[in-house]
Amino acid sequence: MCGIVGYTGPREAYPIVLKGLKRLEYRGYDSTGVALLDNGHLNVYKKKGKVAELEETLIGKDLHSHIGIGHTRWATHGEPSDRNAHPHLSNSGELAMLHNGIIENYVPIKNDLLKKGYTFKSDTDTEVLLNFIEDIKKNNNCSLEEALRIALKRIVGAYCILLVEQNDPETIYAARKGSPLVIGIGKGEHFLASDASPIIEYTKEVVYVNDYEIAIVRPDELILKNLGNEKQTPFITKLDMELASIEKGGYDHFMLKEIHEQPDTIHDCLRGRLLPETGQIIMSGIDDNLEALVNAQRIVIVACGTSWHAGLIAEYMIEELCRIPVEVEYASEFRYRNPIINRGDVIVAISQSGETADTLVALEKAKEQGAFILGVVNVVGSSIARISHAGAYTHAGHEIGVASTKAFTGQLAVLSMMALKIAYAKATITEERYMQLVRDLHAIPEKVKEILKDTSNIKAIAEKYKDAKDFLFLGRGYNFPVALEGALKLKEISYIHAEGYPAAEMKHGPIALVDENLPVVFVATKDSYYEKIVSNVQEIKARKGKVIAVATEGDEVIPGMSNDVMFVPDTDEVIAPLLSTIPLQLLSYYVGISKGIDVDKPRNLAKSVTVE
Ligand code: F6R
Repeated sequence: MCGIVGYTGPREAYPIVLKGLKRLEYRGYDSTGVALLDNGHLNVYKKKGKVAELEETLIGKDLHSHIGIGHTRWATHGEPSDRNAHPHLSNSGELAMLHNGIIENYVPIKNDLLKKGYTFKSDTDTEVLLNFIEDIKKNNNCSLEEALRIALKRIVGAYCILLVEQNDPETIYAARKGSPLVIGIGKGEHFLASDASPIIEYTKEVVYVNDYEIAIVRPDELILKNLGNEKQTPFITKLDMELASIEKGGYDHFMLKEIHEQPDTIHDCLRGRLLPETGQIIMSGIDDNLEALVNAQRIVIVACGTSWHAGLIAEYMIEELCRIPVEVEYASEFRYRNPIINRGDVIVAISQSGETADTLVALEKAKEQGAFILGVVNVVGSSIARISHAGAYTHAGHEIGVASTKAFTGQLAVLSMMALKIAYAKATITEERYMQLVRDLHAIPEKVKEILKDTSNIKAIAEKYKDAKDFLFLGRGYNFPVALEGALKLKEISYIHAEGYPAAEMKHGPIALVDENLPVVFVATKDSYYEKIVSNVQEIKARKGKVIAVATEGDEVIPGMSNDVMFVPDTDEVIAPLLSTIPLQLLSYYVGISKGIDVDKPRNLAKSVTVE
């Protein structure tokens, strides 16, 4: 979380930094700040609130500078406020620094500095690290680079930092461990950012900085060193991303744009991989490791949030089609509970951002124990993609709305292909069923398009229920994780309390919540659980709950029992979540906007959770 941007070169730094921060706001938006260096003056401007609020206060100010750093914050240490906003100034006023991450051992360092007479204007761990660097520089009479290296060796935690010095008008020092950093290489200029979106407009050549590396960045020079002061060769990557992909393209919100992109993103994910005529599925990351997957004694899926829900659906698919036992773990629990990892286990990591701290650390631990790691990741070149032994990208494109939509369906598409490939290789399904599933999967983008053709009914349902205090989402089988995902989406962007439950489990407790005020969303498409879920709907009706159903086109029974219905086309139940999730994304979106919520940046959230 937190977005960082830096620029050094001949252009005006402020507009570049500001625009970059706007692109990175999905990473946090509690407060914003910039540090600009001009003529030996280090000017820091910062403010609680979103980037636009800082921009407004700076109108008319002289912001001339050819070197600048900026930050948009997701608060960890210290409440969102002007004084806790980054960048921070050191006690001497000579250094300015910003930080994405957490310094875990900042308390003893702060106590030492307090004893030495340092004072702190904020509650942040960042200000402690900054003054620690300053103190080392002073005591050792060394360069800033050397002081930074010494400090970084002594801290525990995660960081991506940018640091500038008053008397050095050209250099940005940057370092990372656990939080992402990309450096764009221009002609006589360099751009630094948490991801490539602030850079893409200026250059497509980038270097992804690795953990434990320090970058010394000047207009004409990029030096990379490890913490042992050894030079590293920067590995230049060409960005495969277009500017249009990070703009709203006529939609009111990124979330809506991303929901509507799904016919294309799912198609892109399947394209060239799934060949419906021959039934072939070509995925090099899976093909090259098919033996490990086919012989896996167990597959452990590690993920968080929406990606975890994709993992649950994959569990149903893989166990049914491939007959391999699957466990789905919250990365945050897995990493701390000393899990048993056996030879022959395959760990599948699912992550949109590829930077989620809990998932990343869980994988590092599993890797240390000899596990084979397969990444299902959206962001190309991200940390999880890089530490995985193999993987398959979801190719959903840049997802900016904080609530994950197109990345989720991309994950489901990849996981479906993966399950089908393994099942085919293991001969655990018939050729006929395999071919039918390949064809059904191929038809999904068109069916998503059909759902999205007219969303007015879903909008009207959202209007009708927007004032509800609670929602229940119920589903069975493959649609149970869809119910969980529907509840999560609604919570995130409407702030309405919602719970997802297996439909049959509600009589073991949650049914006590049902009364005439409770909207209950049933994900009740035609599948092998259909008769059972019809009974569950009856149970809610008998208690006067308001039933909103996601039902299959042509079904008359569920719609006949429901107060409101959202239809989806028919498909095989294994891949039905790719369709049944779409109306729930739209329902949340429309409830959120009808309540006036900034659905792309809901409160307290950030897109990329790079702290534990
Ligand atoms: C929900 C959402 C989050 C993420 C979770 C994991 O809409 O976006 O729950 O799914 O933070 O993030 P990734 O997939 O980037 O690891």
